[in-house]
Amino acid sequence: WSSLVGRHFLTLKYFTKTEIEQLLWTAADLKIRYKQNGEAYRPLEGKSAALIFEKRSTRTRVSNETGFALLGGHAAFLSPADIHLGVNESVKDTAKVLSGFVDIALARVYDHETLLTLSTEGYIPIVNGLSEIYHPLQALADFQTLQEHYGSVKGLTVAWVGDGNNIIHSLMMAAAPLGVNVRVATPKGYEVFPQVEKDAGKLAEQYGTSFYYTNDPMEACQGANVIVTDTWVSMGQEEEKAERLKVFEGYQVNMKMCGVAAKDWTFLHCLPRKSEEVNDEVFYSPRSLAFPAAKNRKWTAMSVMLSLLQDHTPTTPKPKY
Ligand code: CP
Ligand code: NVA
Repeated sequence: WSSLVGRHFLTLKYFTKTEIEQLLWTAADLKIRYKQNGEAYRPLEGKSAALIFEKRSTRTRVSNETGFALLGGHAAFLSPADIHLGVNESVKDTAKVLSGFVDIALARVYDHETLLTLSTEGYIPIVNGLSEIYHPLQALADFQTLQEHYGSVKGLTVAWVGDGNNIIHSLMMAAAPLGVNVRVATPKGYEVFPQVEKDAGKLAEQYGTSFYYTNDPMEACQGANVIVTDTWVSMGQEEEKAERLKVFEGYQVNMKMCGVAAKDWTFLHCLPRKSEEVNDEVFYSPRSLAFPAAKNRKWTAMSVMLSLLQDHTPTTPKPKY
């Protein structure tokens, strides 16, 4: 067991297998305590959080705001209309001031650099609520969901079909430590970021897993257990929409693609979903774990907030990862 108190949660790249499993176990433990046992567990009584959003959010905002309250703390939601963040006041000064008011801050930002500034200039743990590079909270919820569905994630093959974006980047950072192999299909020019590919390669070597890259969705899906996609037009890319819809033609996840996957295939999507990247037949099929994963956003968010603030020892058995 290693304490995560005081750490930042900007990317899973810096978290070991033990630490990632610990975060997932804590999430599973909290889910049982609150949902199954109806326990009134309030370890964060008197603690407060700032939830800063430069972009819209349903899941990240609501899971963290309600989750922090369930833990006994108070979370303040701050939209761009509420807070001076880089506008009217520097990010550096904001970080210093917020550190005096709250115990932890989550931020959803356009530029990952803003998170780095918050984390280096403030004195409190910073949680990434999505940047252009990473979405680590989503990856945790996805792996919690896969663990629940398959009983263990070790040895699974995940196929990504779509844009080389923040969602796949975070899945890649957690995959290797958890023993998961990844096959990525992206159109030319929309590959995962080179630095992420490099980091993933090192992790794969360390943990003995594999990453495979292709421009052919069918090839990526061949024999895969889990097929994952996301919107082709991420927040901030609205002006590229027409061009992207053309480039990503042929990348829509449909039953033909899923037909070449493993017999036990499932589908994941971080949501919000547009109809271009996956058709209704797959998205609303019993194989789709998109909604269970969305629900798990709450337990994983609570796990991260709690773990960065104080040590929590699960009382429920450790799931198999
Ligand atoms: N998946 C996800 O982060 O959703 P929101 O944009 O609604 O937070
Ligand atoms: N890739 C999407 C994820 C939204 C949760 C975006 O960045 O908009």
